[in-house]
Amino acid sequence: MTYQQIDHVGIAVTDLDSGIARYQELLGVSPSVRKRMEKDGIEAAMLDLGSTHVELIAPIGPESAISGFLEKRGEGMHHVAYRVDDIRAALAQLRGQGARLLDEEPRVGVMGHLVAFIHPKSAGGVLTELVEAHP
Ligand code: CO
Repeated sequence: MTYQQIDHVGIAVTDLDSGIARYQELLGVSPSVRKRMEKDGIEAAMLDLGSTHVELIAPIGPESAISGFLEKRGEGMHHVAYRVDDIRAALAQLRGQGARLLDEEPRVGVMGHLVAFIHPKSAGGVLTELVEAHP
């Protein structure tokens, strides 16, 4: 199992349209993917930079997974995602190290890949996502 590269950086925004407009201006790229994740109560957009991405995440309701974050901290850096070649092996390794996992089992993320989150307490204060991406 290897950590291959940073897959994306997740940035919380209060409104996805204005977030996209701001990052389009900043980075000069348009989103390649825009998707509503009803279960998490979020809408996300991916802007591609080389082989990595910037993921903008906005709430679509008060019960959203990131409403609390936005209330407490406002817009900004939300998580870092690392690309791994075997997410189940990565989770098993983390479990063996006593890490606190927010997802015991991988689930399907914005890009359709398998993802899982690690609690910031087990990752140096940073909400951390693992992504198993296949070319
Ligand atoms: Co993410």
